[in-house]
Amino acid sequence: MTLPNPLFEESYGRLFGPGVAAGGEADRFFLTFYDHFLRDPEIAKLFTETDMDQQVQMLKRSLFQVVSFYISGEPSAELQRIAEVHKGLGVESSMFDAWLEALVETVAEYDVRADEATRLAWCWALTPGMTYIRMVILGLGRTG
Ligand code: HEM
Repeated sequence: MTLPNPLFEESYGRLFGPGVAAGGEADRFFLTFYDHFLRDPEIAKLFTETDMDQQVQMLKRSLFQVVSFYISGEPSAELQRIAEVHKGLGVESSMFDAWLEALVETVAEYDVRADEATRLAWCWALTPGMTYIRMVILGLGRTG
């Protein structure tokens, strides 16, 4: 990755190692993320039938798709698919705020060097891809 966002890049590297994909040791990070995210009962309701181990694996892989959108400005075929999956799941806009808050909270727990600037750097990197998913949910996004 070469990004105009070194705080994000360094923090991502501290959490998930060098390279772009999160390895097996990242599972704990994503389990903690879901602990935080599912605190909201309205959100938890959407995951009652979900196999959370599988969900962790899917989120681990898809995080990179979100970051890729930030880098390239183009939704990958996989990000387009993920966005389409979220249509009709009952996901509300405010839940994306909760998603980002839970993610940043998890970053702060696992990356001891993540100060406020680093947490903002994460928001900066993830917001474009999240906004893309929200636009697709609203029927505004380009899906191919
Ligand atoms: C950038 C933000 C997000 C990413 C990257 C993401 C990623 C994913 C992925 C990869 C899947 C599995 C899709 C599949 O292959 O079938 C999924 C499913 C799902 N996501 Fe998200 N998601 C995001 C935001 C949200 C938000 C804000 C909610 C709100 C509650 C949400 C609720 C769900 C639900 C309910 C499922 C289906 C779970 C099931 O299969 O039972 N997601 N998400």
